[in-house]
Amino acid sequence: MSVLAVSDITIRYGRLTAVRGVSFSMNEGEIVFVTGPNGAGKSSLMRTIAGVTPAASGRISFVGDDITGRAPEDIARLGFSMVPEGREVFGSLTIEENLMVGTGMRAKERGWKARAATELEAVYETFPILKERRNGQAGLLSGGQQQMLVIGRALMTSPRLIAIDEPSLGLAPNITDQVYECLIALRSQRRLTLLIVEQSSARAVMIGGRMILMRGGEIVLDGDARSLGNSEAIQAAYFGYEDH
Ligand SMILES: Nc1ncnc2c1ncn2[C@@H]1O[C@H](COP(=O)(O)OP(=O)(O)OP(=O)(O)O)[C@@H](O)[C@H]1O
Ligand SMILES: [Mg+2]
Repeated sequence: MSVLAVSDITIRYGRLTAVRGVSFSMNEGEIVFVTGPNGAGKSSLMRTIAGVTPAASGRISFVGDDITGRAPEDIARLGFSMVPEGREVFGSLTIEENLMVGTGMRAKERGWKARAATELEAVYETFPILKERRNGQAGLLSGGQQQMLVIGRALMTSPRLIAIDEPSLGLAPNITDQVYECLIALRSQRRLTLLIVEQSSARAVMIGGRMILMRGGEIVLDGDARSLGNSEAIQAAYFGYEDH
């Protein structure tokens, strides 16, 4: 069964069509990179799946539920966790407060406090640096540590799928490597499905998995990242070369 099925999604901002008729689905445990140049519509697509930006048309289902037009917190409750573009760390809060931020939405559920405590321990086990600095101000963490913090926060709801927008943004290459090592490890430990947005196709080619390449609001390539490699089709998608 597909975990996520996006079908014929169009997204508009006023008269601008940012995403046009996009369809794809993802299986459990799959890693999918959505890549493409600036303005391709990658973040818009991710925000729409998460319920933050409404679609003009099309349907989205997640773990068998139709989530089209549902509120972000409802979608999150079903096991969809998003790390938005720019990370959104609350700099003046402590690391632990940042991790706990999203758990309040479950305050009506029975036993949520105990569950949040268990999840917090699991996050600390994955990222010991966060535990070490749990009472420190989040704004004082390095870029790489902040990226780990927001991934940790996404894990606090025990999601089935994590969607991350540009995890490498502003990070040195070796720090990006560490972030990806964590993501890959988490994927196998928790059977997580990963939807990762990156402008560049380089990381997808390096890590492997599936790559969906967008340009001008449409999917222009969808296939195995390694075999797409540095093909002319990729060059064309980024730089707009004509095929001869
Ligand atoms: N909130 C918004 N209001 C109006 N236009 C928007 C909004 N968000 C995005 N756009 C426009 O929609 C198009 C797609 O933008 P989007 O941010 O989804 O692209 P992207 O692929 O994520 O680009 P980048 O790689 O730069 O992050 C662009 O033309 C952008 O200017
Ligand atoms: Mg973007």
